[in-house]
Amino acid sequence: MKDIRLPVHIGFIMDGNGRWARRRMRPRAFGHKAGVQNMIKVCNYAFELGVRIVTVYALSTENLSRPQEELDELFDLFRNYFGKKKGKLLEMDVKLNVLGDVSVLPADVQQCIAEITEDTRHCTAGLLNICINYGSRQEIVRAVNAAVATGRFVDESSFKDFLSTGSLPDPDLIIRTGGEMRLSNFLLYQAAYSELYFTDRMWPEFSRRDLEKAIENFSARDRRYGNVRGDKA
Ligand code: FPP
Repeated sequence: MKDIRLPVHIGFIMDGNGRWARRRMRPRAFGHKAGVQNMIKVCNYAFELGVRIVTVYALSTENLSRPQEELDELFDLFRNYFGKKKGKLLEMDVKLNVLGDVSVLPADVQQCIAEITEDTRHCTAGLLNICINYGSRQEIVRAVNAAVATGRFVDESSFKDFLSTGSLPDPDLIIRTGGEMRLSNFLLYQAAYSELYFTDRMWPEFSRRDLEKAIENFSARDRRYGNVRGDKA
């Protein structure tokens, strides 16, 4: 990937696990399992390319209304991932952060998240944000209430600090797999100027080459931020 402008921060809406599994006549859990494996592969590749921040949408607040059986399968995948992947994150010097309200997760999974977050907090090569029981509208309302509680007016910059992404740069690029073209309550405030990229690929089959294509597409875009000349001018 020569002469490419890399996004600093990429968000992934990892959609299509269920359909990918159904096409193989397998249960949805099979799709989610393949989805985690692909999440690891794609995130690692993004960091290898030099992307600094990756934010993945693993479970929305709305997803919590799925059947308990599917949720339990997802919780098992979280248990396995947060319990076992610390070594690899430390090796890659990647800090892990979870955005969202994890109090709905089983206590042992919350404990694994607390440990991996603590143990990777000094890592600086990359940051992996995993959104779990995350909803952007809820996040904005919570941020507004927290700002109001200070009794001071906020501006755009100080308001950001009340969001779960805090002072992080906004996502430059948001990639959604699975063929739908919407944000589904993902980083709504932060996505004000994100470039959006939609693909029909189902998440488990989104490959390294697909990521490169999305980044090449991003790199060719003219980001004008409402002005007349963009950064490609
Ligand atoms: C959407 O596909 C995907 C989800 C609701 C879950 C995504 C979760 C993962 C990839 C696992 C994350 C795991 C860890 C350890 C962070 P869908 O099931 O709605 O697919 P469909 O639209 O085809 O039914």
